[in-house]
Amino acid sequence: MQLQLRGKASGKTQIFDLEAKDLEKSVLDFLRERGTPMASSCNGRQQCNKCLFNTNKLGCATTIAELSHEKPPLYIEIDYL
Ligand code: FES
Repeated sequence: MQLQLRGKASGKTQIFDLEAKDLEKSVLDFLRERGTPMASSCNGRQQCNKCLFNTNKLGCATTIAELSHEKPPLYIEIDYL
């Protein structure tokens, strides 16, 4: 399974291969582990709303598994990237 990251500001796209161990990680933690910054000033405590992706989802409150329940392809779109 793959996950596509799209940066709206840059127009760049990145593809990540997913492993089973990634499913329970938050989107915020998953991207950080891969060296891709996701904005956060509350460090994942669901207080700052800076980790928004796909218009209305919080990266710190959404797991990769939750994304995988959506219609493929899996993607994350971030406005400021
Ligand atoms: S990191 Fe602050 S709300 Fe998600």
